[in-house]
Parts: sequence; C-alpha cells; structure tokens
Amino acid sequence: MATHKLFLLPGDGIGPEAMNEVRSVIDFMNAEGIGSFETEEGLVGGSAYDAHGQGISDADMATALAADAVLFGAVGGPKWDHVPYEVRPEAGLLRLRKDMELFANLRPAICYPALAASSSLKADVVEGLDILIVRELTGGVYFGEPKEITDLGNGQKRAIDTQVYDTFEIERIARVAFDLAKTRKNHLTSMEKRNVMKSGVLWNEVVTAIGKNEYPDVELDHMLADAGGMQLVRWPKQFDVIVTDNLFGDMLSDVAAMLTGSLGMLPSASLGAPDAHSGTRKAMYEPVHGSAPDIAGQGLANPIAMIASFAMCLRYSFNMVENADLLEKAIAKVLDDGLRTKDIMSEGMTEVGANGMGTAVLTEFQIQLGKGQD
Ligand code: IPM
Ligand code: MN
Repeated sequence: MATHKLFLLPGDGIGPEAMNEVRSVIDFMNAEGIGSFETEEGLVGGSAYDAHGQGISDADMATALAADAVLFGAVGGPKWDHVPYEVRPEAGLLRLRKDMELFANLRPAICYPALAASSSLKADVVEGLDILIVRELTGGVYFGEPKEITDLGNGQKRAIDTQVYDTFEIERIARVAFDLAKTRKNHLTSMEKRNVMKSGVLWNEVVTAIGKNEYPDVELDHMLADAGGMQLVRWPKQFDVIVTDNLFGDMLSDVAAMLTGSLGMLPSASLGAPDAHSGTRKAMYEPVHGSAPDIAGQGLANPIAMIASFAMCLRYSFNMVENADLLEKAIAKVLDDGLRTKDIMSEGMTEVGANGMGTAVLTEFQIQLGKGQD
C-alpha cells in the first residue's frame, strides 16, 4: 500500500479542535490498514506569527511543498488584528495557495436532507441541493500588482488593488470546471462582471471559446456575478457547476455555504495542475469556515467541514473513492440520527460538541466499513 505524506496545519481558533477529529479518522485508518498515512504537523496563521513572526515559516512552507497533501484548519482572530499586513495570519494561507500553485478551488455545497430545515431559506429551495463552485484561487485581485496604499500628500491616501487575469489562467480553471461538469450534470455556469470589468470581458470570451472548441457537449451559461448571487438564493438548484474568479468565488461560496444550513458544513479542495510525469497534483484541503474565535477553545466547533475536507483528500489526492464515499455517508447518517453541533442545532435534536460529533462520525464510518461494534 502506498504511503501518503499528509501535512497537517490546524492553524488558529477552531482549526485545532476540528483537526483533532480528522486525526482520529487518520489514526483509525492507519491502525486498521485501510490507509497508510504519515503525518507531520506545522504552524500557520496567528500561531505561526507568534512562533516565527510570519504567517507560515519557510521550513513549514517547504514541508507543504514536499507533502502529498496538506490539511488546513483555519487562520486568524482578534489577537492578530493589528499585526503588520505582510505577516497577518491570512498571509500564511495565501502564500500556501500561491507557492503551491493551487489555482483550482473546489467548493461543493451539498444540503444534507437532515439539514434542509436549518437553512435560512425555505426547505424546498435547498432540499437535495448539490452544486459545485469552482473558484480561481491564485490570480485576480487577491494577488494583482500594484496592491498598495499611497500617501497623496494632501491629507488624502489612495488604495489600489489590481484585478488581473491572463488567458492561460482563465483557460486552465475553465478546463477544470468543464471536466467536473462532465462527471456531473453536464451543465456549467460562468460568472463575471463583463458589463463593468475588462477582466470580465476576457473571462467570458475565453470560457466561451474553451466550451465551443473543447467541450461542445457541456451546456454553458453565462451570468453576471451579481445576478448569480441573487439566483443562488432565489433558486439554487438551477445550478450544477459554477466557475468564477477569485473574489467573486470567495463571496459566492459563502452564500452557497449558508444554503446548506451552516458555514460549518462546507469542505473545499485546492488543486494544482497534474504533474506531466507522475500525474499527481499538489493539493490542500480546508473547510470553508473561518477560525470562529468567538467559540474557539470551548469544544463547540462543527468538525464536519474538516472531516468532509479529508474525504475530498481521499477522493482527489489518493483515489480512495470508496472510503471517501463511506466517510461522507457516515456524516449524512449521523445527521439523520439527529446529532447536531450548536451551529446547526434545531428543536428535538441532540446537541453535541466537536468531539461528540467527530466520534459519532468515526463510529459510523467504522460501521460502514464493517469494522464497528454495531
Ligand atoms: C476563504 C477565506 C480566505 C479568502 C481568507 C481567510 C484569506 O475567506 O478561503 O474563503 O478570502 O480566500
Ligand atoms: Mn471566504
């Protein structure tokens, strides 16, 4: 059995609590010979700033680059609100994305039947929802230069961020999205703001051309990103795969997250290009939720997004599709059984903490694998 090198970066806030629950799943899989994972652990975000004065140290960055996959928790918190911009917690996350060239961010939004009532939208709008947002992750306004605040000398300052996309960046993210659409309902919606932004004009042009030349059988729609946000809350089931840029993807995936009942439910995968020789790709898996400093350290976090991120890791990095399916099934079953963390709690359900939820999912995973004490 191939041994996979996993680099764990729990980070700040609820990151470590959520990661603990994944560690139990990894330990179980190793102990039972279901997988062979070697884990190493590093610091990212505020905890890295406290130890090394930067969002991630060079040594941890090198470990991340050498790993088969990185599991990332969350970064940030009020404690680091005033650290210099260059070394703020988020800089660690952005450096990982940029240096590992993880240009494709997959954010599935699935509404588990048991949670349809926890969404802020009507149950029939979200029941059975299964959409996938493909967010460009290494370009656009997040990284474009110039990015600065200059002093104009007259008591005024000027802030500049630069939205920039080259053809190849749009082409490669479009191909990832089209390929994924082919494995699903064959329907892709591209979102940009071509009515105001030149980058939107080029985005639209390039995605259209890739569709026409390489994926004529995939149904392609275009939507302005603001209208897309509105449609996401009006009738989200009209979508299958959505492809969009870094900033719009950030915002639209938060909207999509709430359709599923809680931000605590959404996993994500950030993938690089497949290596020309080995076919393997650099990858990092992280929950979409942040560090939630308000509830951190109390054992109240919802570990489902973190566990589901590990399921995505099994699926996309290690081709352990069956185990990924079973782990996801275990999550659905535990929710069906009425277990809830605080963020998704509703009347008549049983409230548990992060460890209670993690243990229940692991127990159910063991049962699914025929290894549990039923
Ligand atoms: C996300 C987060 C990050 C982003 C922050 C923490 C830099 O909001 O992954 O969605 O804006 O990309
Ligand atoms: Mn975000």
